[in-house]
Amino acid sequence: MALNQRELIQQVSSIVRSRLADQGAGHGYDHIERVWNTARKLQSMCGGDLLVIELAAILHDIGDAKFHDGKERSKEFSVEILNQVGVDAVTIEHVAQIVDNISFRKRESAESLSLEGQVVQDADRLDALGAVGIVRTIEFGAAFDQPFYAPTSVLPNVVPQKTGIGHFHEKLFKLRDLMNTDGGREMAKSREDFMRAFINQFELECAGQG
Ligand code: ADP
Ligand code: NI
Repeated sequence: MALNQRELIQQVSSIVRSRLADQGAGHGYDHIERVWNTARKLQSMCGGDLLVIELAAILHDIGDAKFHDGKERSKEFSVEILNQVGVDAVTIEHVAQIVDNISFRKRESAESLSLEGQVVQDADRLDALGAVGIVRTIEFGAAFDQPFYAPTSVLPNVVPQKTGIGHFHEKLFKLRDLMNTDGGREMAKSREDFMRAFINQFELECAGQG
């Protein structure tokens, strides 16, 4: 018997949950669940096919290159899982196209995105902002031995170190202007404002004020 849409989504999410079980916080199922929730919220504001949006949100990092020897395998794994649960071919193709084209890394060479793709891309990018974005940056630094902050008073001839706060400026504060949907832009603005307030307070405390 064919599964109804809700059952189908639940089945895909439990497959993804078990496959990502050994991936750390920030890159594990917690990220997927947040992107899924945000994508549903954005869809309620701007529309788009909810089944495609939910499936693409749930599957978008299933074969993240960081965990597959540098080879991005999300599209391949998505097609495999969707076939396994009996999703129709048109939906599989649409979800696979989204999963294959939303990453920040691929933005120069990506194919254009449908409304559904734009929603999922905004939801994924929003998860790098706000309180969650701050925590994920700190977790990344802890995993890759990068400090969150380095004093500005470094010695001459010392190459400034890459830092988490540096990453805010190099990438994260650019995301707001890259949002596709009005709802995404609005959420990105409030999350970015929160991060800027956090940095201000952080720097005040480092300077012995605040
Ligand atoms: P995703 O694959 O979910 O779109 P990324 O893998 O690019 O996102 O990044 C995941 C998280 O790791 C981001 O929220 C970001 O804050 C953090 N991160 C990625 N690269 C760096 C970096 N060079 N320095 C600090 N944090 C980083
Ligand atoms: Ni992601």
